[in-house]
Amino acid sequence: MSNAQVGLFAMGTVSHNYLEFSLLPNGNGLELIRAVANLEAPQSSVNGLNMVVGIRPSLWASLARDDIPPQVYDFVEPITGPDGFSMPATQRDLWVWFAASSIGQVFDASVEVIEALTPHATLEEDLPGWSYRQNRDLIGFIDGSANPSLLEAPDIALIPRGTQGENGSILLFQKWLHDLKSFGSLRVEDQEKVIGRTKLDSEEFEPEELPKNSHVARTTLIQDGSELPIFRRNTAYGTPTENGTVFVGFSKDQYRLHEMLKRMSGIPDGTRDALTYYSRPLTGSYYFVPSVNSLRSFADKTEFFTFEN
Ligand code: HEM
Repeated sequence: MSNAQVGLFAMGTVSHNYLEFSLLPNGNGLELIRAVANLEAPQSSVNGLNMVVGIRPSLWASLARDDIPPQVYDFVEPITGPDGFSMPATQRDLWVWFAASSIGQVFDASVEVIEALTPHATLEEDLPGWSYRQNRDLIGFIDGSANPSLLEAPDIALIPRGTQGENGSILLFQKWLHDLKSFGSLRVEDQEKVIGRTKLDSEEFEPEELPKNSHVARTTLIQDGSELPIFRRNTAYGTPTENGTVFVGFSKDQYRLHEMLKRMSGIPDGTRDALTYYSRPLTGSYYFVPSVNSLRSFADKTEFFTFEN
């Protein structure tokens, strides 16, 4: 039996860093994964640090074909709506997420990982994220209200036991850039129509009052009468002059993530998500987040598996 990477569900951390790496042109994928699986200090439970690792789906499939659901694809095609709005495809090979209670812990761990992986890969993104007013996005709305509880989240985020890739997860990772000035120039009632919830306390709209182009309407997926949710762990990033949302969405299947992006872009019916007039994605990658057991099977040292009494 395998176990999920626990950091997926470790809530309450205020400091984050997201690293994305691309293999060197002559790099070896197996050596890159081995190097990350061999990392010891950032994975130690005494540091109070959570580390989650994701790998480009096609790279993981080439190394562990039976340990990923069939047909999980890379983000290599931009998603372009009928009016030309486009979400870029910037697929990279490896994603590492650190989360802790202080930026110092995240900083030290990031330095160590970058050093260990530099012989194999180029650092493409080094993106510190942080909690804004506990649980709000920089646009001022609570982010995560419709998220499943921690009792339900594993069933939504993790590939079911007994199937290929069990206890792994599919991640959509995007860096969104906000235009806070133009969003902030809207009246609060209009901001609420963009999102589809109230600003102060994240109350839902009555179904008949929910605008069809609101963010909530575009990302609520219904199939055969049931909702298809995802598990989001977004944070804020940036400075007072350049900032946005780090979108971190986990799902047990890729369909719902991709379908949400298509709906936000207006592909199925020409209705584009109102939020995309005030924020736009700069990057987009899918990663497979394997179970700890699968990741560990790539380590070629064994010391950290022996425990002293
Ligand atoms: C700039 C980027 C984004 C921002 C600021 C943002 C913010 C929000 C906010 C404020 C809500 C309402 C409260 C909540 O339930 O969390 C929400 C809901 C949601 N968002 Fe986003 N979001 C962003 C991008 C995305 C993307 C890219 C996806 C999917 C691929 C997504 C999926 C969802 C889902 C599934 C919900 C819940 C809908 C429901 O009520 O069932 N969001 N988001």
